[in-house]
Amino acid sequence: MKILITGGAGFIGGNHVHYTIEKYPEDTVICVDDLTYAGNMETLEPVFGCKNFHFEKADIADKTAIRAIFEKYRPDCVINYAAESHVDRSIENPGVFLTTNILGTQVLLDAAREFNVSRYHQVSTDEVYGDLPLDRPDLLFTEETPIHTSSPYSASKAGADLLCLAYARTYKMPITISRCSNNYGPYHFPEKLIPLMIINAMQDKPLPVYGKGENVRDWLFVTDHCRAVDLIVRKGTVGEVYNIGGHNERTNIVVVKTILEQLGKSEALINYVTDRPGHDMRYGIDPTKINKELGWFPDTNFETGLSQTIEWYKNNTGWWQNVLDGEYQKYYEKNYGAR
Ligand code: NAD
Ligand code: TYD
Repeated sequence: MKILITGGAGFIGGNHVHYTIEKYPEDTVICVDDLTYAGNMETLEPVFGCKNFHFEKADIADKTAIRAIFEKYRPDCVINYAAESHVDRSIENPGVFLTTNILGTQVLLDAAREFNVSRYHQVSTDEVYGDLPLDRPDLLFTEETPIHTSSPYSASKAGADLLCLAYARTYKMPITISRCSNNYGPYHFPEKLIPLMIINAMQDKPLPVYGKGENVRDWLFVTDHCRAVDLIVRKGTVGEVYNIGGHNERTNIVVVKTILEQLGKSEALINYVTDRPGHDMRYGIDPTKINKELGWFPDTNFETGLSQTIEWYKNNTGWWQNVLDGEYQKYYEKNYGAR
């Protein structure tokens, strides 16, 4: 199978590229990424030498470039991870979120339709369901929960989902969608909660907790997400939406204190800061459908996954130091530009 993975220089897409190359050496992976601030070629270093790996630097919203890539490789399957994905940045600058997340999805869908791909998979998020109250732990997002977004990020992801469903119905395209909860693990960009807290704690810098730290996120180890997407692509039913999550709800303050404890650092590093505008209170996924229909369950529990993640950041200081000092953005030209 020839699989075109967009956003493969990012956190989850990068992990999905590693996962696919390792698990399916007979498959070909074409990674398309525009290397925005969130894209990091160093994340793809482990697969550079692989004969079945190809990299194309392109903007998914660039119709001409995307069409040329589809013509060159004629992929069987498309998995769209590429997105502007950081809620805080969407509050500062919503425009690019609409361009990449909605128009980029449309460009990919049009190319997938023209080149008759046998599966287009849209990687979406549980944030399209909005949030849940803190005092109703019995409530969870199911695939039937109405779309009800809070941030420009989640609104743009919801727009893309609706477009995918419309293309599936109108053009009878073989489309699937997955909506996952918050991921954590290796190669996570250091401005997101878990990597930021690990890196700051390791450097004895303050840990900025929004509001009172009482917001709840439902955490999933990144490889479990990639495995679920792979399963949906290979075994899932066309036209369906699948929630992905592992019942791992934690308040932010509990996550931060667990990180401090695992690193042997003092809670005095915690610094409560002004809350995020429109901050979603709680996310909680009901994964019953993917459990029952595809037999998917997470392999990694939160405690194990978090300690593996902390170990990874301890052992890969070069990766995140290059992000912090901006070196990673020179990597493509320096090491890959001439290939
Ligand atoms: P990320 O921000 O780490 O990576 C996004 C990647 O997309 C980067 O490599 C970036 O360079 C690339 N990209 C951005 N705009 C592009 C464009 N116009 N053209 C081509 N490439 C472009 O994001 P992530 O955390 O890995 O998330 C990947 C996907 O999973 C996103 O669609 C996100 O909505 C979804 N998701 C993320 C989470 C999470 O917890 N991180 C949870 C559920 C769903
Ligand atoms: P984040 O990692 O940005 O993911 P998302 O907004 O997609 O859930 O944030 C996770 C939670 O952590 C969210 O409730 C906001 C909070 N948070 C902080 O308290 N401090 C921080 O510095 C960051 C980045 C996030």
